Amino acid sequence: MRKILIANPKGGSGKSTLSTHLASWFAWQEANVMLGDLDKQHSSHHWLNLRSEQLPQIARWDIGDDQIARPPKGCQVAVLDTPACFSGSKLKKVLKIVDHVIVPILPSAFDLWASADFFEELAEMKAIRREEVQVGVVGMRVNSRTQTAQQLPEFLKKFDIPLITCIRDTQLYNQTIQRGMTLFDLPQSKTQRDRDEWKPLIEWALKRQ
Ligand SMILES: Nc1ncnc2c1ncn2[C@@H]1O[C@H](COP(=O)(O)OP(=O)(O)OP(=O)(O)O)[C@@H](O)[C@H]1O
Ligand SMILES: [Mg+2]
Repeated sequence: MRKILIANPKGGSGKSTLSTHLASWFAWQEANVMLGDLDKQHSSHHWLNLRSEQLPQIARWDIGDDQIARPPKGCQVAVLDTPACFSGSKLKKVLKIVDHVIVPILPSAFDLWASADFFEELAEMKAIRREEVQVGVVGMRVNSRTQTAQQLPEFLKKFDIPLITCIRDTQLYNQTIQRGMTLFDLPQSKTQRDRDEWKPLIEWALKRQ
């Protein structure tokens, strides 16, 4: 079973967008996918409620702060969305049951500063030190031609954490999310450019069980 945590205590960094997209990509591969949502705003579970039954199914993983437990048997891929400010003892607990952590980051100075604190916190966690959990970064809403986008790889060099991919800023994300869909539910011909951006992340997530 693959268990993927999406976390960044900075609000609005793209956690729910990443969570829903990964869940839907794996669902298209006919995997038995579960999507958990620790956020009290329940963005990912709202999205799941909107999802058409005609689309590849994703099951709701009912996991709460007070009942952190592994996904049920039969689940092949579990994706866990987290709220802003998710850190400390809650993070520590969740790191015991996942194998990948993906940190979405917006390429802005405020977001980079906030992420630096988070990386320092992650680096001290036992599961990360023992390399039981892999950590990777995804640049979100990145316009590759901007100077701030170029700062992201430079910034990450300080922390031994790989930049897996960058996802461009496009309204397609908002348009699909509000319909309980993702880019992966749209025809390939219309989304090839964006699918190419997700490919390195999917390969990375598939590397280690
Ligand atoms: N690549 C993108 N292009 C355009 N808009 C995006 C992209 N990624 C995310 N967004 C938009 O940015 C906003 C924040 O994204 P999202 O809700 O995924 O962040 P979050 O980290 O889950 O936020 P919160 O901390 O509040 O839970 C949303 O409106 C989303 O549609
Ligand atoms: Mg969210």
